[in-house]
Amino acid sequence: MTRPGSPRARSRSELRRQRRPDSHRCWDHLLLAPLWPLHDANLGTLLRTCDAVGACLAVPREAWIQRALEKGNTLRRRSCVHRVSEPLRWLDAQRRAGSRLVAVELADEAVRLGDLAAARQRTVVLLGHERDGVPPEALALVDEVVEIPMIGTGLSLNVAVAGSLVAYKLAGML
Ligand SMILES: C[S@@+](CC[C@H](N)C(=O)[O-])C[C@H]1O[C@@H](n2cnc3c(N)ncnc32)[C@H](O)[C@@H]1O
Repeated sequence: MTRPGSPRARSRSELRRQRRPDSHRCWDHLLLAPLWPLHDANLGTLLRTCDAVGACLAVPREAWIQRALEKGNTLRRRSCVHRVSEPLRWLDAQRRAGSRLVAVELADEAVRLGDLAAARQRTVVLLGHERDGVPPEALALVDEVVEIPMIGTGLSLNVAVAGSLVAYKLAGML
């Protein structure tokens, strides 16, 4: 039995009415970029986050990644996906074209997630390989590194969790 005034989760049909009928197009403002992915499941999770915050996903142009996105897409319509042939050259081109590059990584020079400001310009969010992290050559290109504080025993968070937290902060939705 529920107490009067206790919270009630909204139903699927209520949620559907509140959502947009179609996926967002390329707003070209916030891009989540897992450019060295290892696990299919993380790509599907990041794609859902992109849909939720109005971001695009940038992934390597590889056949297994295309298949992983098709398999892992649990949305009726998926959000915008950019294909990247050569990650380092692509990142350099993004920077030269005026985008801000933010790496999500555990690094001494990093700002804490709580101090990260919402994105005011086109921002590319670099996410690292599940085991090896963001390559040093890519870290050398970024404007800022953000770290999510941890107080547990694990060395790091799952990459899709880390990317999702940063995406929400940059989108100004936290
Ligand atoms: C599972 S971590 C592995 C790499 C990590 N350098 C290590 O040695 O454990 C994979 C990626 O998730 C992101 N990540 C995980 N935890 C993070 C945290 N607390 N702060 C920032 N990024 C994190 C980073 O992009 C990292 O490259």
